[in-house]
Amino acid sequence: MRVLVSLTALSSLSGCSGPQSALQPAGVDAEQIGQLFWWMCAVAVLIWLLVIGFAVYATHINPETHDSRAARWLIIGGGAIAPPVVLGALLVFGLPLLPSLSAPAEDGLQVTVSGERWWWRVQYPTPSGGTVELANEVRLPVGERVGFSLTSPDVIHSFWIPSLGGKVDMIPGRTTRLTLEPTDVGVYRGACAEYCGTAHALMNFQVVVMEPEAFTVWLEQQAAPAQTPQSSLARRGQEAFLANGCSACHTIRGTPADGVLGPDLTHVGSRLSLGAGILPNDAEAFARWIRHTDQIKPGVNMPAFAMLPEGQLTALAAYLSGLK
Ligand code: CUA
Repeated sequence: MRVLVSLTALSSLSGCSGPQSALQPAGVDAEQIGQLFWWMCAVAVLIWLLVIGFAVYATHINPETHDSRAARWLIIGGGAIAPPVVLGALLVFGLPLLPSLSAPAEDGLQVTVSGERWWWRVQYPTPSGGTVELANEVRLPVGERVGFSLTSPDVIHSFWIPSLGGKVDMIPGRTTRLTLEPTDVGVYRGACAEYCGTAHALMNFQVVVMEPEAFTVWLEQQAAPAQTPQSSLARRGQEAFLANGCSACHTIRGTPADGVLGPDLTHVGSRLSLGAGILPNDAEAFARWIRHTDQIKPGVNMPAFAMLPEGQLTALAAYLSGLK
């Protein structure tokens, strides 16, 4: 027990805690994986202590004696009996967990996530039978089993929210599935867990677990078309958005912008971060991102608009950050 406590303390100190930690579960599946991890850890520590104990005994306490019976025991017990017993026990303990980890969410919410170089396209069904699309942010109702359909149009990515459960690869041409059930309201972090190119390490997302009522309100807000810009600055920003060809790649529902290559920006101002979890979401960060995409996320598809006059950039940033 003391070993477990020390290991927990050590892991907290070494950065294993926080919003992206498999050791601080906030979901049913992560809890099961966590238990399995700690059991395996405890058994491994026990075996290690036994082996070290025997080694110390043989080399320091009783180095002179050669006992053939003991040697036989060591070979038969250590080589033939112990491994199958230990591995068998872990198998018996771990196998029953598998069906529940992969059990589909029958009638619950179904979210589709597409991993794309280097961001996340997230789609929710709406109560009216439509689809609402957002990017780099997943919101979930607490206490509900949610099914994820995972896919990719380019290379293999891997969808992982350590606080909520295990990771599953997103494979081009295939749909893989994952089911998660968050137990604690909060903000967590998800990441791509499969090397997918230059900006792999910059492919993150936020996961917001909400009370079911708040989640319903949020989804309704996301399904609504974009707000009409209120200030003259934001209106100029909307004009700049359409004039500079941004709408060739981005959709803003309720406006003529209907591009599908890049993230849907209808409510981009309401998200927790920009650039797939790497920048804060404010006008200043928008301006930086638009001007220096190539420096902030090398290899990204969106070209850097370094040539934009300062006035247009400020207006664009005001417009986009105002799309709540
Ligand atoms: Cu996507 Cu790594």
